[in-house]
Amino acid sequence: MMAWSMLFGVVVAALAVAVAAAVDATGSVEQIHLSLTGMTTEMAVDFVSTNSSTCNVLYRPQGSSDPYSHAASTVGWHFSEIGFLHQATMKNLKHNTRYQYHIQCADGSSSQTMSFVNAPQREGGLKVAFLADFGLKNDVSIKSLLNASAHNEFDFLILGGDFAYDLMANHSQIGNAFMNTLQPLTSSMPFMPAPGNHEKKDNFTQYYRRFEAVAKNAGAHSGTNSSFFYSWDTDNVHFVAIDTEVYVFYNETQHSPHPFTAEQQLAWLEDDLARAHANRDNVPWIVMFGHKGWYMDFEPDTHHGLQPKPVTNFTGFDALANKYQVDLFLGGHVHIYQRFFPLLGLTPGLQYAKPRDIDKACAADDNHTYRNPKYMTTLIAGSPGDQETTLEGMCLGDEVVEPNIRGTMAECQPNYGYGIMTFPNRTHMHWEWLEVKHGDLLAGGDGDGVDVQRTRNDHLWLIRDH
Ligand SMILES: [Fe+2]
Repeated sequence: MMAWSMLFGVVVAALAVAVAAAVDATGSVEQIHLSLTGMTTEMAVDFVSTNSSTCNVLYRPQGSSDPYSHAASTVGWHFSEIGFLHQATMKNLKHNTRYQYHIQCADGSSSQTMSFVNAPQREGGLKVAFLADFGLKNDVSIKSLLNASAHNEFDFLILGGDFAYDLMANHSQIGNAFMNTLQPLTSSMPFMPAPGNHEKKDNFTQYYRRFEAVAKNAGAHSGTNSSFFYSWDTDNVHFVAIDTEVYVFYNETQHSPHPFTAEQQLAWLEDDLARAHANRDNVPWIVMFGHKGWYMDFEPDTHHGLQPKPVTNFTGFDALANKYQVDLFLGGHVHIYQRFFPLLGLTPGLQYAKPRDIDKACAADDNHTYRNPKYMTTLIAGSPGDQETTLEGMCLGDEVVEPNIRGTMAECQPNYGYGIMTFPNRTHMHWEWLEVKHGDLLAGGDGDGVDVQRTRNDHLWLIRDH
């Protein structure tokens, strides 16, 4: 009798330990970010489980009592500094419908319940935020961005390279903290990336693995199986991500988790743009984004009196962009805001960074409207904030200090901020540059970085009779 009760006690204690272990998971689910797949009935998600290789994403329309749908995840990579990097795809989603979802892992850890609107139909047209060169330190725009996304000011965010400064810094803790800082935004709306030079370390491994859901979904649907370069349609816009770093970091790219050559990217880009251009009746706008613009990354060779050598080689991108009449290019790398006049880019052998032609005639008197420009318009939005700060000295009034590209731009601003673009119809798109100052920078600010002042400091109507 005594032995029985002792055994019973042991069993109860063991069960209690087992239950406690299940509830008291030691791991966490974090760094959750959604991405578009190119299918309007799907939403992809990347996330990290610090402890578990087996997780499930459970989702259903918000407010519904339907049983949850399950999206099993796969692990693309396990790295002790980060955890298990999972990808999953939520499918059979209805348009313009809010879904709630949460993530459960085998170790008992789980996320909180989050939500997103699938394929939102916004009155007035699609709205997209763009920035590049965003660091964890001096992240001036972060509160404004999180606030703007919480207030539904845009439908998704594009980041054109140079993340966190850097993703792998301090044993990946900078990258982990950066992705967690953005999570309130990226778990509630898609986050679409392109690689920059700050992602080159370890052959771009961290960039590729942290955005592997993009490769497996948008990349797969656009024929690249890659998050380095890919495309997708949303509403009336064909978006194209390009990797401007392949020329500079050719060897790293060749040894990346998804190796490719500059020539392969250009061959894919030509095919993609040709199809998008032929599809203008259905999807009139083509917007390309990457890290560097047309005039960046030349190697001057003045000592030997030779022509400078193009490193990024935008000649390849620009020739295709103009052949297929890409409307807009968005980039960063220089930490300022620049709005160029539509221009025809470079040909090899021409003088350093000078465009072949500029279309200023398309600009209305106030310079805030480009009507039927002959060439692609370039916008550089590389100053949401990072540890390198803005390049104060690069602008001279509305102009740029660099003499070789003087006369090419309508605006040059060495301030912090980000852009939001709107696509109301097939002929008009609107861009706004939103300068951000947080409390630390404001006179009288209390230094906690919470007080945010946002000012529209530039805008552009791009009008094209597609
Ligand atoms: Fe850069």
